[in-house]
Amino acid sequence: MSISNTTENTDTVTADHDHVIIFDTTLRDGEQSPGASMNLEEKLRIALVLEEMGVDVIEAGFPIASDGDFECVHQIAQTVKQSTVCGLARATKGDIDRCAQAIKPAASGRIHTFIATSPLHMEYKLMMEPDAVYQAIIDSVSHARNFTDDVEWSCEDGSRTDHDFLCRCVEAAITAGARTINIPDTVGYAMPEEFGALIAMVMNRVPNIDKAVISVHCHNDLGLAVANSLAAVSNGARQVECTINGLGERAGNAALEEIVMALRTRSDLMPYASRIKSEQIMRASRLVSTVTGFSVQPNKAIVGANAFAHEAGIHQDGMLKHSGTYEIMTPESVGLNESKLILGKHSGRHAFSEKLKELGYDLGDNAIHDAFKRFKDLADIKKEVFDEDLIALVDDEVVRANDHIRLKTLEIICGNVHAEPKATLSLDIDGQDMSCSATGDGPVDAAFNAIKQLFPHNATLKLYQVHAVTGGTDAQAVVTVRLEENGRSVIGQGANTDTMVASVRAYVNALNRLLIKREKKAPDVISA
Ligand code: KIV
Ligand code: ZN
Repeated sequence: MSISNTTENTDTVTADHDHVIIFDTTLRDGEQSPGASMNLEEKLRIALVLEEMGVDVIEAGFPIASDGDFECVHQIAQTVKQSTVCGLARATKGDIDRCAQAIKPAASGRIHTFIATSPLHMEYKLMMEPDAVYQAIIDSVSHARNFTDDVEWSCEDGSRTDHDFLCRCVEAAITAGARTINIPDTVGYAMPEEFGALIAMVMNRVPNIDKAVISVHCHNDLGLAVANSLAAVSNGARQVECTINGLGERAGNAALEEIVMALRTRSDLMPYASRIKSEQIMRASRLVSTVTGFSVQPNKAIVGANAFAHEAGIHQDGMLKHSGTYEIMTPESVGLNESKLILGKHSGRHAFSEKLKELGYDLGDNAIHDAFKRFKDLADIKKEVFDEDLIALVDDEVVRANDHIRLKTLEIICGNVHAEPKATLSLDIDGQDMSCSATGDGPVDAAFNAIKQLFPHNATLKLYQVHAVTGGTDAQAVVTVRLEENGRSVIGQGANTDTMVASVRAYVNALNRLLIKREKKAPDVISA
């Protein structure tokens, strides 16, 4: 066994490396995570970052799901030029027509149509006989080909599908015109060896397989999504479907950053390269985390806060002698640069916007103006402003760009000399100033009760969490809340040096997201 070469390989696509197509589904499967919701502006921002990062295919949404989803796919198709823009459609004429309309403006557009092929799904979910499913595959792929040459077909629950039937369906989809055949492990059930063998079986048995690219789409229910995807690549798959931070239904999808860095770091064993500019990974990870409100666990591979931290003395000693002792890839290769002390209260707007660019933000004039004002306020309160502070501050600004409800003022009376904590709050709701006072079991409860008075709703609070961005008692607090209403859940975040202000901003942010979610059809009406 040779694992001696821990020097990072910095190849992108080279002549002797097969290319693996990176298909990002953060905006579609990622958005299906319970609690995750993104508005058009946020999706567009993520799409542009994915494009700049070198993602080959961006699955921008499920156009039939709602007018909002349609609009997102349509606008992304209009804006993105370097990546193929893809929309998802079930195997029906209505879904495919709507999807075709949504991707029409794309420089390169793809229709991704799917139907379940496992016995369990066909019998209980679709209530269709295998022959009818087989015919639906031919009809849907042929219909999609009327709009574009670039059609992808997926056999939902592919890893639990009968092999003979799977091969028949794949062959029929290719004959009908599918150029990409995606084999999903929809429920995250497969084991790496087994999944690799499944891909090898399809490669060996389907007679026209050379006319299509084999893709895989693995869910992470057993924590094996990345391992299964890599096993598939070793056996002939040349497209991997994945999401930033591994976002996705239930336990999520294969994490893009892990796939890309595994291919790059272990190119000795896996001579396949992606086109991803890995230095942009952290930027994409941060943006997705901010927009969705899903924090990245500290020990998450590649993008977790501790992924490149060395605490144990023996490790630190080794690192000082040679970084290769404990580091198999450099932090810089994923866009992680050392946290530096940054601007102070005397810094000007120019230095501020340059710093934002360095951190990967490209804000419009209005957003820079608002963020700069908040930075000045922060620099007045906080002696030392770090990159992390700035990221929290700007992210907090960015997520509020299109809010219907905004916090104006908040005053709290609490402590052990007052009988009951009291919050006096004013909100701007669609341009109208409204204020009230409310009491509660504690200051947070009082503030949230005041919000409910001004904007009545039935959502229940399922999670309230606070963490400090940096050390010190003057650190900014980032508060995360999760609200649930009629089976829909949303996450909101807020940052401020005042934990109560951060709490109200987080709750208001979640309410704004709930308003977006209310526009979508009930979760059980549309499912993929
Ligand atoms: O998990 C799955 O099977 C899917 C398909 C629609 C590709 O998301
Ligand atoms: Zn999926």
